[in-house]
Amino acid sequence: MSDSIRNIVILTGAGISAESGIDTFRDGGGLWEKHRVEDVATPEGFARDPALVQRFYDARREAVQKVEPNAAHRALAKLDAEWEGDLLIVTQNVDDLHERAGAKRVLHMHGELLSALCASCEQRHKWSEPLVGNPACPGCGAEALRPDVVWFGEMPYEMDRIYDRLRRADLFVSIGTSGAVYPAAGFVRDAREFGAHTLELNLQRSEGSYWFDETRKGRASDLVPEWVAEILG
Ligand code: APR
Repeated sequence: MSDSIRNIVILTGAGISAESGIDTFRDGGGLWEKHRVEDVATPEGFARDPALVQRFYDARREAVQKVEPNAAHRALAKLDAEWEGDLLIVTQNVDDLHERAGAKRVLHMHGELLSALCASCEQRHKWSEPLVGNPACPGCGAEALRPDVVWFGEMPYEMDRIYDRLRRADLFVSIGTSGAVYPAAGFVRDAREFGAHTLELNLQRSEGSYWFDETRKGRASDLVPEWVAEILG
C-alpha cells in the first residue's frame, strides 16, 4: 500500500463497461442517441408509457446477462481484495460487472438492472426476467414492479454514505465517465476540497478534467490494470 494513501474512492461510469460490449450513453451511437431521455429515464416518461420504459430496461437487463466483465473490472476486483485500507467503488452503472469480476465494496448510486423495485411496498427484489408483463411483487403481491434504476429527477442512492467516504478520501479516481451528470460529476471537487489527490482514467478528456490533478487518456482495459499494479506496488 502506498504510504500516504489509505482511503480510496473510485467512481466508475459507462466507459468501464464499454469494452464488455455495453453501450455508453453519450458516445457516438450511445443510448441517448437511440432514445429520448425524457421518454425512458424519467418518472414522467414511465407514467406516460410504462410498457415503453419496461421494454427499454427489459432489453438492457437481458443484454447485461450476456456480456462479461473486462480487464478493468477484474483489476478493480483485485485491488478491492488486496487493499487493506478503506476502498469504495461508487458506480453510476446499473450493470453487475463489478460484482461478477469479484468486487465486494461496490455502491450502485443509480440502482441496478438486476433488481426490481415495488412502487407499492418499496421492497427490492433480485430480478433477471422481463417486467413488461407486470408480474406481482413477491413481497406484497401488487403488480407495481418498476426497474430499480434512478431516473433523472430522482435522488441517487446512499448519498450520505458517499459524501462520508469522499470527506475521508486520500485518493479519488474517476474511470470512464463523461462528467456530464450531477451529483457524480461534482464528486471530484468535493474530494479535492477535503484534500484528496484526484486521478481521471478516461478515453478522452471529460467535462470535469479541469478539476483532476492528473488525467490519463486511454481505454479502461489498459489504464486500470496499469494503475492498480502501480498502487499495489
Ligand atoms: N475506456 C475508458 N473510457 C471510455 C471508454 C473506454 N473503453 N469508452 C468510452 N469511454 C468514456 C467516454 O469518453 C465518456 O467520457 O466513458 C465516458 C462515458 O460517458 P457517458 O456515456 O456520459 O456515461 P456516464 O458518464 O457513465 O453517464 C453518467 O448519465 O445518463 C446518465 O444515468 C446515466 O449513469 C449515467 C450517467
